Amino acid sequence: MDERRLLEHAAALGIQYVESVPGRAVGPTATIDELRATLDLPLPDGPTDELEVLRELATNVDPGLAQMGSGRYFGFVIGGVLPVALAADWLTAAWDQNAGLALPTPAAAVVEEVAGRWLKELLGIPEHASFALVTGCQVAHATALAAARNHVLEQVGHDVERDGLVGAPPIRVVAGAKRHGTIDRALRLLGLGTGCVRAVEADDQGRMVVEGLREELARGRGPTIVIAQLGEVNTGACDDLNAIADATSAAGAWLHVDGAFGLWAAASPSFRQLTAGVERADSWATDAHKWLNVPYDNGIAFCAHPSAHRAALGIRSAYLIHADPDAARDPVDWNPEHSRRARGFTIYAALRSLGRSGVAELVERSCARAQALAAGLSRLPGCEILNEVALNQVLLRFEDDETTDRVVAAVQASGEAWMGGTVWDDRRAIRISVSSWQTSEEDVERTIAAFATARAV
Ligand SMILES: Cc1ncc(COP(=O)(O)O)c(C=O)c1O
Repeated sequence: MDERRLLEHAAALGIQYVESVPGRAVGPTATIDELRATLDLPLPDGPTDELEVLRELATNVDPGLAQMGSGRYFGFVIGGVLPVALAADWLTAAWDQNAGLALPTPAAAVVEEVAGRWLKELLGIPEHASFALVTGCQVAHATALAAARNHVLEQVGHDVERDGLVGAPPIRVVAGAKRHGTIDRALRLLGLGTGCVRAVEADDQGRMVVEGLREELARGRGPTIVIAQLGEVNTGACDDLNAIADATSAAGAWLHVDGAFGLWAAASPSFRQLTAGVERADSWATDAHKWLNVPYDNGIAFCAHPSAHRAALGIRSAYLIHADPDAARDPVDWNPEHSRRARGFTIYAALRSLGRSGVAELVERSCARAQALAAGLSRLPGCEILNEVALNQVLLRFEDDETTDRVVAAVQASGEAWMGGTVWDDRRAIRISVSSWQTSEEDVERTIAAFATARAV
């Protein structure tokens, strides 16, 4: 095997793809069945030439790729990928470090330590907070809420790490009605179940109504976790963290913040006020693969109670080479994964390259493009913008559900831009999330034009 030839070929294919993105249809062009026709082979009995494997793989997956890095990909909340972060990710694969322990893999551990410190500074998280670089916000919730579970039960004399939940007093989780689905799944994973959730009414933007939180907190005592949100997935609305933190601390509860993308507003002097009070929380979950524009998968959990975090996630085994915790940080003690990818390299590269001003600019530019999209789309016949475009999300609909669905399907089919549908206030709606460093004024114009064409049919 010619290893160099293979790797050079892979690099060339990767570069060719990245360069082709602006000229391609934004959505995938092949169906699942069409992809199966070329990819679903019998398990080979023996070896196949590696170069041929790579070439065939690249050719056969090509029509099934969505151009998520495009400046006109507005689906879900999907960040693009900064070239420096992509390059660092390629190196991460080449270096292939199992980044759980500091002593056997010191470079990954030190880079991760620095990345964690930079992230805290940028996002307004207290310096003493512990952190974990995980696969995404879903796992960041599970990590942070494991620490929360440890802490609130320890306060009533129950050691959940030793005894599990058997015999533990119930934990009440108070969260907004418009919380993200990953909160409920994290609670299921932690054995708390979704039955523990006391949902607090949300306002028309999806923000938790703080009076409702106060009433719910007054209804009971005992171990309580409150979950606030920065960035509702449809509207981008941010909860009033100062008011929520006042109510939560008065009740002696733990405050967790879902800031999957909204926490990044803290990195911009112009948008920071949306996150006011963020430093008062007990734990936070966010993503780097969304607004920081590093490749998948990359999320972050932070915890203001490192001892609870470590008690919930730490591990000891005779064969592992544990560092002295005062001298180095073993990621394995903070993460739910045991073996793991060295996620710090891409975050480090992105933050070093952008600096504070670059991240602020990325946030501000995305929000400005969202404003421009909302302004342009609002002029189309029958179009109604449903949210206050305070961040990077635009939520809209046309006069009826059928037209709304028809327009979004036509824009997707045009290949000019891609975004998805949703339901808001029991009616069909269209979500636009501007989360890519690439989205330009021209992308905004082309997207508005695609909507105008789709609307006119
Ligand atoms: C508010 C919010 N929380 C959590 C998540 C889950 O993030 P991930 O898919 O990275 O796990 C998302 C994803 O869009 C989100 O918008």
